[in-house]
Amino acid sequence: MKHLLSIEELSKDRIWKLIDHAATLKNEREKGPHEHKPLLGQTWAMIFTKASTRTRVSFEVGVRELGGSVMFLSSNDIQLGRGEPIKDTARVMGRMVHGAIIRTFAQQDVIDFSKYSGIPTINALTDDAHPCQILADLLTIRERLGTWENKKIAFVGDGFNNMSRSWMWAAKELNFHLAIAAPANCLPSDSYMKCLDSPNISLHTDPTEAVDGADVINTDVWLSMGQEDQADKEAQFDNYQVNTELLKHANPSHIVLHCLPAYRGKEITEEVLEAYSDVIFQQAENRLHAQKSILAKLAAHQSSEF
Ligand code: CP
Ligand code: NVA
Repeated sequence: MKHLLSIEELSKDRIWKLIDHAATLKNEREKGPHEHKPLLGQTWAMIFTKASTRTRVSFEVGVRELGGSVMFLSSNDIQLGRGEPIKDTARVMGRMVHGAIIRTFAQQDVIDFSKYSGIPTINALTDDAHPCQILADLLTIRERLGTWENKKIAFVGDGFNNMSRSWMWAAKELNFHLAIAAPANCLPSDSYMKCLDSPNISLHTDPTEAVDGADVINTDVWLSMGQEDQADKEAQFDNYQVNTELLKHANPSHIVLHCLPAYRGKEITEEVLEAYSDVIFQQAENRLHAQKSILAKLAAHQSSEF
């Protein structure tokens, strides 16, 4: 594994190994600093075009804990923000740093960066994908429910944003049922579903159908970063709030996940967010462990090249 650009490129075996290693790193960290420092002597760049709390902090801490150093570059502060092409930025970075973590709009930009830089590249969120978040969520589900296998995972909200798309690719590879509930025009297109070609996914416009008997109820903002002015889109989501009434349809031992940040009173109520805050903030913490697992894997690939 040279890069992590999307869940879609990971095999079932690779996902399992990344989660297993994340769990090992989490256990080790509870005992003290890691002895093995796979990023020793390396400098990683974080290039962010969108805001971030969890991803930024967890990667900055993770790179340092694995022995590396890290520089955070807001795209506004580098020439990228003034229109320098991503391929030129990539060719400069590739000669100076050992790896890059990128948060931006277009998926094609992280693909191009990985190609032109030649260094390990991690997608820290694009409009299409949020692979780091999914790995953290899977770790959380395994910690809480023992396994994701044969579970029903409901995703209530924008059925075609970076989170729901990434969940779909995870469902295709792993053995769980994903039920997505969204307004009709925020569900994946027929052509997308045809391309996915998975029996593990069902689409619903009625959220109670998706949540019926679900073990995990997952939600995300109705308007993703960059869509904040789309009031007409947001207006369609009134029936898609994760609230106490909706959760009555779930398996009684369900958990609720939210990748955060949350807009209380919109996609989730204050009451539900606080009632499930234990698991939701465990999910946030697991970003650190999952991403250290990714970083260690990419470093191992790099050293095996020499
Ligand atoms: N969930 C997530 O990626 O959070 P941030 O936007 O704060 O990084
Ligand atoms: N779908 C959200 C995820 C935030 C972590 C967004 O892209 O803004």
